Amino acid sequence: MMSSQSLGTALITGASSGIGAVYADRLAQRGYDLLLVARNAGRLTALAAEVTTRHNVRVETISADLANVADLDRVEQRLRSDAAITLLVNNAGLMSGGPLSAAKGEDLDSMLQVNVVALTRLSAAAAASFSPRGHGAIINIGSAMAYFDTASTAAYGASKAYVLNFSLSLDVELKEKGVKVQAVLPGYTRTPMIGNAENLPDSIVMNVEDLVDAALAGFDAGELVTIPSLADPADFANWENARASLRPNLSLNSPAPRYGVAAQLAS
Ligand SMILES: NC(=O)c1ccc[n+]([C@@H]2O[C@H](COP(=O)([O-])OP(=O)(O)OC[C@H]3O[C@@H](n4cnc5c(N)ncnc54)[C@H](OP(=O)(O)O)[C@@H]3O)[C@@H](O)[C@H]2O)c1
Repeated sequence: MMSSQSLGTALITGASSGIGAVYADRLAQRGYDLLLVARNAGRLTALAAEVTTRHNVRVETISADLANVADLDRVEQRLRSDAAITLLVNNAGLMSGGPLSAAKGEDLDSMLQVNVVALTRLSAAAAASFSPRGHGAIINIGSAMAYFDTASTAAYGASKAYVLNFSLSLDVELKEKGVKVQAVLPGYTRTPMIGNAENLPDSIVMNVEDLVDAALAGFDAGELVTIPSLADPADFANWENARASLRPNLSLNSPAPRYGVAAQLAS
């Protein structure tokens, strides 16, 4: 149950560490009750105790491995059945790095299950719950890696490109229904996922609190895509405009002249 003034409950995946743990603190500070999801039950319980003391909100934890179908089902069911949940933060993620030719199948599976499948299924459950109510929000944590081509993170970067593209289309579907979508694209952020960036120059690494505070400022401003370090929003608008300019030519009834194929048009 939530009171009429309540912001409701924020379900945050990957809340046991890094960016997710800071979202937990900041959303509790705003007055959200929390439902924290990750595998490490001990870390979740410790964070729940800290946040409850600091912000006096209700915090519940669910220990779940989002790469495991039964665990994912459990979290999804909770999203579908708990009307107090008003915000989903799809933050859980992992990076299986190294050249794809050397990758282990099971490592790729877990990464894609968490970064892509779990994020998609939880978004679907949230969309189904929030749409009839005409409010709610889904924040998807992508990555600046969506825009980089590298020899060592092909699958991770592609999983984050999925998050971006998925969020752009999800917004088209949900904005009419009063449900807000935001994709956040962090650059390097000082968290355990990247060994706290010990080997990277300070100039390209953001502090995790700054990252989340900027992302929430972008959320408040109604941004669909937030790139916390991007100073000039026109740079992003230029990319969007370039994409849009391709659209009229992406599906036509004949191949482009440079391919030298005489089109067989339907009569
Ligand atoms: N740090 C960066 O430089 C950076 C940059 C761009 C984007 N990101 C993205 O930011 C998000 C958060 O990463 P972070 O940097 O905060 O890393 P982190 O400190 O390693 O946190 C990752 C979180 O995901 C959870 N998680 C991982 N596998 C899981 C699974 N199978 N089931 C459930 N939860 C799982 C972890 O919890 P448990 O281990 O307890 O399960 C942890 O809470 C990720 O999506 C990441 O791709 C990070």
